[in-house]
Amino acid sequence: MARDAVADVRERTDIVELVSSYVPLTRAGRSYKGLCPFHQEKTPSFVVFPDSQNFHCFGCGRGGDAFTFYMGVEHVEFREALEEMARRAGIQLASVPTVSPAVDAHRQRLGESKEIAERFYANDVSNCEAGATGRAVLEQRGVSAAMIERFGLGYALDRWDALARYLSVRGIDHGLAAEAGLLQARDGGGYYDRFRGRLMFPIRNRDGRVVGFGGRIVGDGQPKYLNSPQSPIFDKSTLLYGLDVAKEEIRKRDQVVIVEGYMDAIAAHQFDHANVVAAMGTALTEAQVSLVKRLSKHVVLALDADAAGQMATLRGLETMRGAMDTEEVPVPDPSGLVRFERKLDAEIAIVQLPEGKDPDELIRRSPERWADIVATAQPFLDFYIEAVTHGMAPDDARAKAEAVAKAAPILQQIGDRVVQAHYVGLLAARLQLDQRVVLAEVRRAGLRGGPVTPSSGVARSSRPVAKASHEHHLVALLLKHRSICRDVISAVPIDDLMDSRNRELLRILADERVPDMPLDELVAGLDDVIADHAERLLATLDGTPAQFPGQIQREARQTLDLLGKERFVYLMRQLQAGIEAAERSADRETLSDLRAEVGALAERHRRFYPPPSPYFRDTRDKVTLS
Ligand code: UTP
Ligand code: MN
Repeated sequence: MARDAVADVRERTDIVELVSSYVPLTRAGRSYKGLCPFHQEKTPSFVVFPDSQNFHCFGCGRGGDAFTFYMGVEHVEFREALEEMARRAGIQLASVPTVSPAVDAHRQRLGESKEIAERFYANDVSNCEAGATGRAVLEQRGVSAAMIERFGLGYALDRWDALARYLSVRGIDHGLAAEAGLLQARDGGGYYDRFRGRLMFPIRNRDGRVVGFGGRIVGDGQPKYLNSPQSPIFDKSTLLYGLDVAKEEIRKRDQVVIVEGYMDAIAAHQFDHANVVAAMGTALTEAQVSLVKRLSKHVVLALDADAAGQMATLRGLETMRGAMDTEEVPVPDPSGLVRFERKLDAEIAIVQLPEGKDPDELIRRSPERWADIVATAQPFLDFYIEAVTHGMAPDDARAKAEAVAKAAPILQQIGDRVVQAHYVGLLAARLQLDQRVVLAEVRRAGLRGGPVTPSSGVARSSRPVAKASHEHHLVALLLKHRSICRDVISAVPIDDLMDSRNRELLRILADERVPDMPLDELVAGLDDVIADHAERLLATLDGTPAQFPGQIQREARQTLDLLGKERFVYLMRQLQAGIEAAERSADRETLSDLRAEVGALAERHRRFYPPPSPYFRDTRDKVTLS
């Protein structure tokens, strides 16, 4: 995966310059400070460290390198960040895998055939006499001409060969059109129109390219909607209907509303609620969520009014929570490692629609009510607790136990202790239980660890708990015993430190003049933020009994080994999860990338954490990698 390109781009990108193009920075000692672009603040707690080319916000905790920053402010994934940053740095990304020209040309032809079909259907609905049926339906449902235009709505005539003939005229091969899901192969040879007598909804990707169609039957009949066949280019569960035309408004309002159906999204747009997209009847997927979370973190779901639908929504939501909370994007860095990225503080809220009404009906009947209904959206956790405890008899002990068991893993994931306490209290109150009992269950769920849902992958709970503490302990030891630990200092792979203050400290410690400097003098020369941190680290060593230099060295070594092992296991797990996902979706390119990463990770680990450490001989089996 373009490892050298990443290194090149990283080398040629100055994080101070990059950040300055978004946020004004002022110099503060060795570093730069500014207002954090990732959260609202009045006093700057966002620091950029030029030496390590890292940033860290001490307000919201976000940190990382230039890539992390760019991904965060631009709401893009790693690949896109890499490409754009390479462009800015004037680097050709030869090693970024792209599709081969032949495959690309074929894809383009498939795309063209869909666009031709789209115009054909659209023409029928607006001009053609034969399309009067489609026109009448749209009219009767109150769809405006502007919406027909915006969504490119059309009508497929009730004939077997209307499109097929037209495609011939346009020189589109029928085999290709069949591959594009427009025509169907006939048993005896030849092709016929897949969509007949249906209102046509072109489904586009985020960039506005038509990738497939939904065709609604006119009147009653089965299936109500016939969709394009599933293919690598058309996968309904990774698309959101209307996103291409809702993008701007989602960004502007900093809110996205997700409804169920095509007609719901169209009605919303018609009445000036253009931040609405449709999930197209599927349970929400992580892929869909990651499409919108780049645009806004305020997600409102207005999916279903009845109880069964709500429970389905809920299942989707647990998926969603996973996607929002722990966005673990494997990111290659120069050493070929994966890094784990930013926690998104997304707000997911649920709208309870009035019984038996879908948004389409609601909006068309009383357009002015929609905004009010959306405004009643309940935060996910409130909604969840209500759903879990709904209709529970106050004396049903077993049901209460079940409710707690269900909710505990979810509540356990809440990062903020105060927020967690709030919801623990809420759940306890609902169940008329002592808060402490509920809290104990929530904590237990944490110890059991493991992902809450398959999709939440690496939930908070399964992260190595002591990661930061090994790291802090190591840096504390190195700081306090600079000259004794000279060898260890030079052996620490800096990229393995997750806390940018630790990285910064380690960089300073590696300076050859530092070991002989008195500690207060060293700390006094540091940037405030780093100095505070250093003092706190040193305080953790207060009261430890005096040790011989050999013991100190050995402890530092051991801590380093623990850190290395933990990081290795953690990263390996991420890769494994990525590999499993790639296997499921038969994504060979990613699969081979990830397999290469596994090799690189193992190799790197052997290099930086050689097993026959003289300090560790007696306990070596403990660090043998499992
Ligand atoms: P609905 O049955 O609620 O349809 O399905 P709708 O959008 O409200 O359409 P109208 O108002 O009855 O005309 C919601 C969504 O689920 C998907 C479609 O995306 C639809 O918009 N769906 C539904 C299918 O893909 N296939 C189906 O057979 C039914
Ligand atoms: Mn409807």
